[in-house]
Amino acid sequence: MRIQTVSTHAFLDQKPGTSGLRKKVKVFQQAHYLENFVQSIFDTLTIEGDATLTVGGDGRFYNKTAIQTIIKMAAANGFAKVLVGQDGILSTPAASHVIRHYETFGGIILSASHNPAGPTEDFGIKYNTANGGPAPEKVTEAIFAKSKTITQYKVADIADIDLNAIGETRLGDLTVQVINSVSDYADLMAKLFDFSAIKSLLQSGFSLKFDAMHAVTGPYAKEILVDRLGARATSLMNCDVSETFGGGHPDPNLTYAHELVDVLYANNAPDFGAASDGDGDRNMILGNAFFVTPSDSLAIIAANSRLIPAYKQGLAGVARSMPTSGAVDRVAKKLSIPCYETPTGWKFFGNLMDAGKVTLCGEESFGTGSNHVREKDGLWAVLCWLNIIAAKTKALGKWQSVEAIVKAHWAEYGRNVYSRHDYEAIPTEDANGVMAHIKSQFLTLPNQVFGRYTVNTCDDFSYTDPIDGSLSTGQGVRILFKCGSRIVFRLSGTGTEGATLRIYLEAYDPDIANHHLDAQVALAEMIEIALSVSQLKQRSGREAPTVIT
Ligand code: G1P
Ligand code: ZN
Repeated sequence: MRIQTVSTHAFLDQKPGTSGLRKKVKVFQQAHYLENFVQSIFDTLTIEGDATLTVGGDGRFYNKTAIQTIIKMAAANGFAKVLVGQDGILSTPAASHVIRHYETFGGIILSASHNPAGPTEDFGIKYNTANGGPAPEKVTEAIFAKSKTITQYKVADIADIDLNAIGETRLGDLTVQVINSVSDYADLMAKLFDFSAIKSLLQSGFSLKFDAMHAVTGPYAKEILVDRLGARATSLMNCDVSETFGGGHPDPNLTYAHELVDVLYANNAPDFGAASDGDGDRNMILGNAFFVTPSDSLAIIAANSRLIPAYKQGLAGVARSMPTSGAVDRVAKKLSIPCYETPTGWKFFGNLMDAGKVTLCGEESFGTGSNHVREKDGLWAVLCWLNIIAAKTKALGKWQSVEAIVKAHWAEYGRNVYSRHDYEAIPTEDANGVMAHIKSQFLTLPNQVFGRYTVNTCDDFSYTDPIDGSLSTGQGVRILFKCGSRIVFRLSGTGTEGATLRIYLEAYDPDIANHHLDAQVALAEMIEIALSVSQLKQRSGREAPTVIT
């Protein structure tokens, strides 16, 4: 096997964001761009003689091209073996499972999650460590540092692999094994959940609709929901993976998953609806004409976790990202288990899970998961809900609707009314100006009264990891009110165009009768406060958010 050393020049923009390096495909297609980043990853690792690398992606445009390059570079950089999903496909949670299950050295996941795909759209790459989770900040910082000084990379002179053919190929010193992308993950799900109870629920006529949004969960949903659990084939929509994700924006929320929303809000709607995102780690849960806020979904899964075989012994603890609502905190309190508040991004949950401190984690951004892998997991969340509904139905002898389960939860714990408003692709200077303007009021805001709300404190959230002591600063500006309500402003770390400013709004009321069911109505006063304190409209020229979730 001949190894070539190629001279290159550094690109200075390869700083990984909330979840890896995401750029337009055209940026990745520049000569040396992908190779530089992959070599920077490899240069931060100590690759031992028998090391295996897991590689797979969400199937978007450029996935297969990137995989062929990565295999050649893995061979040249001392890996003994590469495990790759058939056709280059591995959902993000499935990749995390493969890394853990086969005890591989780490993995490269090719995805830009829910961002649109295609030649003029987005691509992404991230490195996950041996625990199956996204590399922690100290590793991503080291990769970025390498990428700024790189002068050469190594690539083996070997042929392209047939990614369609399951089995092993030897190429010089490297073995490439193409594995079934779905079966290991489906086997894991069968171990965690009561498949026979879910099967009976579906056989009894409980109807569901799952929308893969033309992205990676399609084959997983077919195998698990239809082949193993007996759902009808018509329960699935948009389950064929296309390189452009059908030209859509595979983000499972009320705006982008409107096709599914229309089905669930129509006459004779199914009892349950769910969607997953581009790489399969996000989920949206719907009932018949009912939307479950992701923060509530996490709390409800936690509160009912004993109904799920994998968690029937109880939870060690729970964790949520800072902007996620405090609904799960109330469940943790009742269960007398710890609840951790981390910065945004799944990578912050890894240490807590590895140390056995938490079992369930979640983010308001449609991400929920557990310690079965080290990524959030869309289909896992769907199966949690189906398992909970099946178990409650079995116990009560009649179906429990999603709406009834959520309302019963609110009646017991109170309701954290919640919404996020995103202002996408605004000029970076404007976004920075808004953040600076809010921070400039940190001293004057406390004790100011805005209608029903009085400011208690304000800060810029920072987090010290309780396991390794690492400090992460600048994680979002918070305005905390005396009544426990809050507004958070944060700049996205995953966008590829200008800046995305997110406003997170949360109001708590123990008596659900006080709140309008529609969160936008219930939060109207807080939305006004957020706009006035930030001067967002004046500074960005935007009249309304791009997306409301
Ligand atoms: C967004 C979400 C965050 C999630 C990340 C990756 O990041 O807000 O919760 O972990 O995508 O899916 P952001 O764009 O806000 O940095
Ligand atoms: Zn995703």
